[in-house]
Amino acid sequence: MENAIEVKGLRKSFKDTEVLKGVDFEVRQGEIFALLGSNGAGKTTTVNILSTLMKSDEGTIQVCGFDVSRQPGKVREHISLTGQFAAVDEVLTGRENILLIAKLRSVPKPAQVADELLKRFGLTEAGNKRAGTYSGGMKRRLDIAMSLVGAPAVTFLDEPTTGLDPEGRLEVWKTVKELAGSGVTVLLTTQYLDEAEQLADRIAILNEGKIIANGTLEELKKMFPPAKRECIEKQPTLEEIFLAIIGKGGQIK
Ligand SMILES: Nc1ncnc2c1ncn2[C@@H]1O[C@H](COP(=O)(O)OP(=O)(O)O)[C@@H](O)[C@H]1O
Ligand SMILES: [Mg+2]
Repeated sequence: MENAIEVKGLRKSFKDTEVLKGVDFEVRQGEIFALLGSNGAGKTTTVNILSTLMKSDEGTIQVCGFDVSRQPGKVREHISLTGQFAAVDEVLTGRENILLIAKLRSVPKPAQVADELLKRFGLTEAGNKRAGTYSGGMKRRLDIAMSLVGAPAVTFLDEPTTGLDPEGRLEVWKTVKELAGSGVTVLLTTQYLDEAEQLADRIAILNEGKIIANGTLEELKKMFPPAKRECIEKQPTLEEIFLAIIGKGGQIK
């Protein structure tokens, strides 16, 4: 099986409003795929349908070779979902949050799983502190770590950096790259071009209910050449300046 996700003719309406009007795309195994769209484009709706939380009106969708409407249980065994809003329990410590999920999922050796995930996400030191004291980036990282309990093959990250400060965004970007490096297929949604540019192997743009462009960054750049060339001295963006000041500048890789 080459594709981790296959979506064909996906349609979804809420009352009279058709949000998804025939969406098609494929995600290959092991890649980071970005679904890019502005607020209200239907990104969360798509993720909810692909992760079996919501039913489509029409279309065939396969995740890890299983049909989301006919084999939702099988799909759930192979995926994880990190929603748009961090799902960590702020009263519990980071470690307890992971332990909770590990026990709910009945994975063997929950304590070892928790320690490994904390380490992998740079949270070992913070592991015994309440999640409520974490920065936005740390909470997101914990949220992603929690979603990886049970080693899913495909993970859905719905707007993983919305609401984070620039430092937190960089932390999460690094985490997502490491995730993909470990062989997990990642479908993430974002409203930020730079996020898709930084992270994604392939990008699909969702607009007015349809995928209007789909390809690698290079392919998309060829489809939308710059309208005109300007010769100007490039000024650093405010974000670059901010990151330079706090000592976290530079490209992540
Ligand atoms: N449960 C729902 N009931 C009615 N309308 C909804 C529901 N969920 C989403 N919508 C509408 O569908 C559209 C797409 O929403 P959503 O998928 O959340 O977009 P995005 O995640 O891209 O911001 C929006 O106009 C939203 O108001
Ligand atoms: Mg959304």
